[in-house]
Amino acid sequence: MPVQYVTYKGIKFPPAYNSEQSLSFAHNEFLVRDDDIFNVTYPKSGTVWMTEILSFIRSHGCPSWSRGVLNSDRMPWFSTRLGLESALSYPSPRLLTCHLPRHIFPKSFSHSCAKVIYTLRDPRDVVVSYYYFSKMCNSYEDPTSFEQFLGDFLSGELPHGSWFEHVRGWMEMKDMENFFFITYEELKQDLHDSVRRLCQFLGQDLDDEAISSVVQNASFTAMRENPMCSSILLPADIMDQTKGQFLRKGICGDWKNHFTVAQSETFDKIYQERMQGLNMKFPWDR
Ligand code: A3P
Repeated sequence: MPVQYVTYKGIKFPPAYNSEQSLSFAHNEFLVRDDDIFNVTYPKSGTVWMTEILSFIRSHGCPSWSRGVLNSDRMPWFSTRLGLESALSYPSPRLLTCHLPRHIFPKSFSHSCAKVIYTLRDPRDVVVSYYYFSKMCNSYEDPTSFEQFLGDFLSGELPHGSWFEHVRGWMEMKDMENFFFITYEELKQDLHDSVRRLCQFLGQDLDDEAISSVVQNASFTAMRENPMCSSILLPADIMDQTKGQFLRKGICGDWKNHFTVAQSETFDKIYQERMQGLNMKFPWDR
């Protein structure tokens, strides 16, 4: 059965949790509070990882909140039907999550001091992760092949829109004081230092022991063992756990096991064209 995506401002969203109304409300009416903290990503870039990191920073490394409460309740997806309700009743300071591109992020954000943490990842690993995720998540169209999926990614036709536009839109904020961006690759390379920098941005005073606890509890292994973030509790009609694992591999460079030489060349060409003028170097560009 083909999936009937919800469309808002020309971008497709998976139907299970989104509606045009919830997206329009998030964009036009959602009132951002000055002490809100937003976890923003393009899908498969480390969203849930950042949820865990931010939850553990908030609890100063103490695991009871993250082990006892679902990640979607700790950091509601405020542009979705259910997430919106949780976001509206969430006591300040709120932790909120979304995949929204910059141009449909809440309008009231522009007049606030709310903070945004934007995580991005090597787009070649994003597309591989997204491919496997789409196979197991029933609110996404089942890809016919990796070739087709990669083509849709490059032409911006996947749900949540174009990776290039997402990244370019958010990177316009790179010099703003209330914006912090970090890559999945940096998190992988040095999670301790990444957490320390995040704490600094958030004005959270965590000692070394608390930071080490965040690092340990937000590790791939610890997250796989925590049903509150591993997606294992999602109903089978949403996530078919027989087809794979949400926390799949958690590595950098898996694209090398999937791209043919021709696909890699095409990707590089389009990447160069679409990223032209951004004048930023990411870990995968080096
Ligand atoms: P893979 O499919 O490559 O394994 P998102 O939360 O944005 O949907 O991203 C999911 C990706 O982040 C998956 O990538 C998942 O394994 C990875 N991930 C989640 N937690 C992680 C962690 N603690 N360490 C490394 N990767 C993690």
